[in-house]
Amino acid sequence: MKRQITIAIDGFSSCGKSTLAKELANQLGYLFVDSGAMYRGVTLFALQNNLISNNDIDINGLLKELPSIELHFELNDTKTPELFLNNINVESEIRTPVVSTFVSQIARIKEVRIKLVEEQRKMGEKGGVIMDGRDIGTVVFPNAELKLFITANIDIRTERRFQEMINKGMETTKEAVEKNLTQRDFIDSNREESPLKQAKDAILIDNSHLTRQEQLDLALSYVQKVAKSQRLYSL
Ligand code: CDP
Repeated sequence: MKRQITIAIDGFSSCGKSTLAKELANQLGYLFVDSGAMYRGVTLFALQNNLISNNDIDINGLLKELPSIELHFELNDTKTPELFLNNINVESEIRTPVVSTFVSQIARIKEVRIKLVEEQRKMGEKGGVIMDGRDIGTVVFPNAELKLFITANIDIRTERRFQEMINKGMETTKEAVEKNLTQRDFIDSNREESPLKQAKDAILIDNSHLTRQEQLDLALSYVQKVAKSQRLYSL
């Protein structure tokens, strides 16, 4: 029988983790989970329910409502997972600048992390999953057979996210994008709960000067190494 491994991909904001995870999952026939979408979903819920006003988050109010937040993914026509919040497709709304502004402050709340990590572990319990985020190799799947830690320089990450947002018709500036990425990286790396850091056994990939195909080929070469070392003929 085919034994499927778990692949954890972590790294800084907008460094192409989800793109790589999605392409790898397609190649291997694995499940792709964008854990950041789930933190964005909780943030959208807080915005929709007036739990964020004047830059202030009503943490107690959010904790009371946590059990009523249901998140799941469904595949669209192109087989890409889209996030549903309480049964409503929120895939585009979770990518808006206002959600990006508050998501790292929501993601530092312990109870939010406990809820989402539990759901993420359930999705990956049978293996055959590629999950990207900030704490996947360190906390969610510390025993993942392959861990990648992705980075790229800030100018390149800014340019990529700026183009992505412009292509979706959103209004923004490069300065605003850079400020958001830098702020999120700071909060994500310095928070008390599961801060963003490279797992000891993760492989570092700086994709600043790699094309998508080069990055995918490199990642696939690591997958093959794992397969060989575990004597798996197919993954
Ligand atoms: O796509 P992008 O790199 O902009 O970020 P994302 O993966 O959508 O994640 C959005 C935010 O969620 C991050 O900045 C973190 O604050 C939080 N996050 C987290 O804390 N832990 C994860 N496993 C994934 C995301």
